[in-house]
Amino acid sequence: MKVTVFGIGYVGLVQAAVLAEVGHDVYCVDVDQQKVDNLKAGIIPIFEPGLTPLVKSNHEAGRITFTTNAAEGIEHGELIFIAVGTPPDEDGSADLKYVLAVASTIAENMSSHKIVINKSTVPVGTADKVRAKIAEVQKTNNKDVSYDVVSNPEFLKEGAAVSDCMRPDRIILGTSSEVSEKKLRELYAPFNRNHDKIIVMDVRSAELTKYAANCMLATKISFMNEIANLAELFGADVENVRKGIGSDPRIGYQFIYPGCGYGGSCFPKDVQALVRSATGVGYSAKVLEAVEAVNYRQKEKLFDYLMDHYDNNLKGKTIALWGLSFKPNTDDMREASSRVLMEKLWEQGASVQAYDPEAMEETQRIYGNRADLSLMGTKEATMNGADCLVICTEWQAFKAPDFEAIKNTIKDPVIFDGRNLFEPALMSEYGLQYYGIGRGSSVKGN
Ligand SMILES: NC(=O)c1ccc[n+]([C@@H]2O[C@H](COP(=O)([O-])OP(=O)(O)OC[C@H]3O[C@@H](n4cnc5c(N)ncnc54)[C@H](O)[C@@H]3O)[C@@H](O)[C@H]2O)c1
Repeated sequence: MKVTVFGIGYVGLVQAAVLAEVGHDVYCVDVDQQKVDNLKAGIIPIFEPGLTPLVKSNHEAGRITFTTNAAEGIEHGELIFIAVGTPPDEDGSADLKYVLAVASTIAENMSSHKIVINKSTVPVGTADKVRAKIAEVQKTNNKDVSYDVVSNPEFLKEGAAVSDCMRPDRIILGTSSEVSEKKLRELYAPFNRNHDKIIVMDVRSAELTKYAANCMLATKISFMNEIANLAELFGADVENVRKGIGSDPRIGYQFIYPGCGYGGSCFPKDVQALVRSATGVGYSAKVLEAVEAVNYRQKEKLFDYLMDHYDNNLKGKTIALWGLSFKPNTDDMREASSRVLMEKLWEQGASVQAYDPEAMEETQRIYGNRADLSLMGTKEATMNGADCLVICTEWQAFKAPDFEAIKNTIKDPVIFDGRNLFEPALMSEYGLQYYGIGRGSSVKGN
């Protein structure tokens, strides 16, 4: 099928590559000329496992085309995806300017029936706005070409985006049009063979489903962080509590890991956006407000431990930092906990020697060259001359380090572990002081 994807970011590029892989003919349109030029030259702008070979092979086979020429893209696609960013506005609500800009462009250029599919995460009612925008622009241009607008939110996880798109848990289609539903069923048939994963519903419910999913996951994290903070105060170990509650099938083990807060491009902005949308309809979303507040506080947790440990004086300290990306297997630094920590350390006059398997370039791009940030070639190198070690991201490569070497390299034998990677008892066997999240008496570095 002929498909066009507007926005070649995490969602658009992965979706395009996966659709091309099964044989669809995909055009990718972006306003970022540099990104398009790079992609044409085989340079993939993001790190995502499995993505580079998929994009390259499909590009070489002619099934995926990169362009900044929107008119060409619109001419090509019978199905047009909108997968542009919906960043938070000043008040936290989702900014729809990119989505509506694409809607205008489609309206200006379309000359045959189009199914416009909204894949960006957007507030309830956005499909109606896209529909209205296309109608308005067509009217201004004296056009009357038929079209439909469908909601098809994306549930991929960064770090596993390709496999999530290849084997989705569910495909949500928000539409009341039988014609559009039939076309989308045909498009997604290669991903829907094992059992029917397509759930068709009205557009508004589809839009809300996406927010509900992300907010539920963020709630699980903040809830667990709340329990971790209580465990700390009560002298309990949250890791025991986690196992104890996870064994209840109604709760389950997934997504109840305590840590130094959630980040990324989705949870923080989507929780905020739903809170603002709720306010817009006169409702105060108290659970979600608390989820956001708990997470905000949790991102300062490691900094608080450091301040406590060093008697509120971090001036001149050098901190070895493992993990910069907001989670493992991505180079995405948006809203990463590491950023909150680094910025607070710098305010106190400390410097950071950091390592991340994939996010070093992105860190360099965000912070540029500064005397209090050194990006090191290996995790071991971060510790040379450092006072202590802090872990912000649970990359596999950090899970079984040489503790003897850590102890012998950092000046104070202390680890601040924002992801509970290690056992406090083992740390004390190695003679390392250990601060985990919510680990009872061990939290005080005992
Ligand atoms: N990243 C994720 O894990 C994820 C998962 C599910 C849903 N989402 C949602 O999907 C949407 C996209 O997220 P992302 O992370 O892929 O964003 P991104 O920032 O990585 O990419 C967005 C792209 O859109 C391009 N763009 C902006 N305006 C455009 C225009 N008028 N025409 C063409 N291209 C344009 C930008 O240049 C950029 O390349 C967001 O609404 C997000 O909430 C993201």
